[in-house]
Amino acid sequence: MRILIVAGARPNFVKVAPLIKELKKYECFKNKLVHTGQHYDAAMSDSFFQDLQIPVPDYNLNVGSGSHAVQTANIMIAFEEVCIKENPNLVVVVGDVNSTIACALVAKKLHIKVAHVEAGLRSFDSTMPEEINRKLTDVISDYLFVSEQSGLENLTKEGVSKEKIFHVGNIMIDSLMHSIAKISSVRKASKEKYGVITFHRPSNVDSKERLVEIINILNEISKSRKLYWPTHPRTMTRLNNFELLQNISKNIKLLDALGYIDFLSLIKQSEFVITDSGGVQEETSFLDIPCLTLRENTERPITISNGTNTLVNLSTIMHFYSKILDKKYKHKKRIVLWDGKAAEKIRDILLYEVENGRL
Ligand code: UD1
Repeated sequence: MRILIVAGARPNFVKVAPLIKELKKYECFKNKLVHTGQHYDAAMSDSFFQDLQIPVPDYNLNVGSGSHAVQTANIMIAFEEVCIKENPNLVVVVGDVNSTIACALVAKKLHIKVAHVEAGLRSFDSTMPEEINRKLTDVISDYLFVSEQSGLENLTKEGVSKEKIFHVGNIMIDSLMHSIAKISSVRKASKEKYGVITFHRPSNVDSKERLVEIINILNEISKSRKLYWPTHPRTMTRLNNFELLQNISKNIKLLDALGYIDFLSLIKQSEFVITDSGGVQEETSFLDIPCLTLRENTERPITISNGTNTLVNLSTIMHFYSKILDKKYKHKKRIVLWDGKAAEKIRDILLYEVENGRL
């Protein structure tokens, strides 16, 4: 059973790590890892491989950055060669980045089965590149591994046959649970109260006007709490190009993009997080850290109903921020199947499929 596992961008690495570990336990799985090179900086890629003990990729397609069409097309061209050479029985893609759709599409057209981990999430906002990537990947996938209840409902409504859908839980939480001891030990508990900020969505950082408004609010918040801001390269480029670095208050400490363990330990000791990330909504929910998400929608609604996430805009953010300071903010409830065993379940399903001659 030859499997190609694809990872391209930072959040992908967190999702493939537990799966690679589980598949290694069975000799029948001969898996190879393909890094598309969508993310390539040491801080965006190498440090995740080290922290999560991911083996060196068998292939690195080195595609780098580019417009959507350029990046997606370059991944497709390079990945097709790998598929032809390796002739896998299955290609596993994760998440919703350009690498996900590019490799799923290549595999499907070569009549190779495709498994999508984190299937079924929907923001219903087709201006987000990730929403397009998710929907198209799901349509052509043979195995749809779902992380939360909404995923099941969305796929069922879209007419995906029930036999293809598996509610396995959240594989990002597998990584978090496996690393929790390290995460807890690197940063000593301290009395310092602080918040963590992360922004990288084009809708928040690609327009100067929007970024100015966001910085104004963050400056306001920083009057009462110190803020740490690990910056994504996209955001740092925009802050530089728009000449906004000097607008940022001294109580906001800009950091380079952090590795997995350093980032989560910063989050775990924080009082609150303000973000536009997808994964961070889930990680804060699991850790019971209040999370204000500066977006109009989320594809992860369980983080609102059972987690610590609230969708905010520039007019409502201060209201929720005061609740956090007053300790009146909600706490997390249990989330079904966020139990650290998603990768194990995926492995068992694939094993069953092999035994029954379907894979
Ligand atoms: C991508 C994903 C997004 C995900 C995010 C996580 C898509 C469409 N978007 O967005 O869903 O949430 O990753 O981080 O796939 N850059 C570097 N070094 C790197 C990588 C990027 O400097 O290692 C810079 C480049 O200037 C590049 C820009 O960041 O042009 C954007 O990178 P790109 O991969 O296009 O999208 P992200 O914003 O990272």
